[in-house]
Amino acid sequence: MNRQKVLFSEKHNSSITQPTIQQKSARLLVAGQGTIIAHQKGNLAFSIHITTQLAKTEDCCYAFSLNVDQENATFSYWLDGEETVICKSDSGTGLNREGKCLYWFSLDSTNYRLSYGIGEPRELCTCLSTDLSSSIKSWLKNIQYICVESRQNIEIDILPLPVTEDPPLLVVERSQITLEFLATKKATVIENLTVECQRLYANIAGIELNTPDFPCFSKAIEQSLTNPKGWCHQILSNKKNSNMPTYLRIGMGTNQGESPGCPYVLEIWPSGYFSPIHNHADANAIIKVLHGEITIKLFSTLSTLCQTPFKTFLLKEGEVTWMTPLLNKTHQLHNESTSVCVTIQCYAYPLTTNCHYPYFDYVDNHENCIQHFEPISDIDFLTFQRIIRQEWEMFIHKNITSYL
Ligand SMILES: [Fe+2]
Repeated sequence: MNRQKVLFSEKHNSSITQPTIQQKSARLLVAGQGTIIAHQKGNLAFSIHITTQLAKTEDCCYAFSLNVDQENATFSYWLDGEETVICKSDSGTGLNREGKCLYWFSLDSTNYRLSYGIGEPRELCTCLSTDLSSSIKSWLKNIQYICVESRQNIEIDILPLPVTEDPPLLVVERSQITLEFLATKKATVIENLTVECQRLYANIAGIELNTPDFPCFSKAIEQSLTNPKGWCHQILSNKKNSNMPTYLRIGMGTNQGESPGCPYVLEIWPSGYFSPIHNHADANAIIKVLHGEITIKLFSTLSTLCQTPFKTFLLKEGEVTWMTPLLNKTHQLHNESTSVCVTIQCYAYPLTTNCHYPYFDYVDNHENCIQHFEPISDIDFLTFQRIIRQEWEMFIHKNITSYL
């Protein structure tokens, strides 16, 4: 999806009829439609105005506005300098008190709809939506100029499409797509995602845990978790002493600066284990379940104040899901089943970014704050595989001996 990035950098006169910073204005990529995403680092009120003309002093200037303050958000329209409020969101859907957060303003001239949301630009994160009345809806197709008012720096992204629905969470092979999938958006093909996701998918989609040379790998991992002397059991026991929820991370490949931590990570989730709510440094990612199943909870934003998922789904063995810098990026994985789950995760920074943030940020519920986690591995994969194979061979030998 094309994106246009613009920086509005200073406070100016708050009247839309006196356009002191309109020279810094951006334009929608398509007149009348699109999504404007405001990256707000503080918690000061701001407004986004979308207008028909660059200079608001001209006659017959129409505009729609999104105004966000500490309490809620409002939509309004302007005609020749007169503002009329259209609707207001519920209390508590305004600025995040913790500061850093995304807010989006969607304009849909096909369906004559304005929408506002917090966090990820998707239908499930909508806080306010209105279908425009017939007297003003025709304006929408002609508006294209964007002006942001704020007392602090706000970076914005502009997406060419409005927020109208939620994206499919599953990635399937082309041969698996059905007419029902197209109609329900239950699954997508990898070609619909970013080029980084496409590359990651090509690398891991065909991977299986149990292979001809080690067909009992999954059973051997379960044995290592069950046996108090097993490597998995002991490492998890040591990690459990920290306050942070935990699981096992087995790294593959060298961190060459293209991903936060190792590009490929095997993760082992015993029954009942879970991660903290976290995000992934604006990376692209592909996740495949190699054994068992895992519950994934998605959150609109990373915040100690908002820990209610907007979506919870079960990813089963063989299934694949995805993440981009904008979507599915804040999640929590939880093995709610009674047996172990093994997943492979892989990550890649966007090719277009020159900022490689190396940490996964997470919600620390003990300290009630956002912390940084350096995505290090517990062990490298080849060493892990050798240890587990040795443990398994000893286990088999012991059982045969006792049987004899
Ligand atoms: Fe994650």
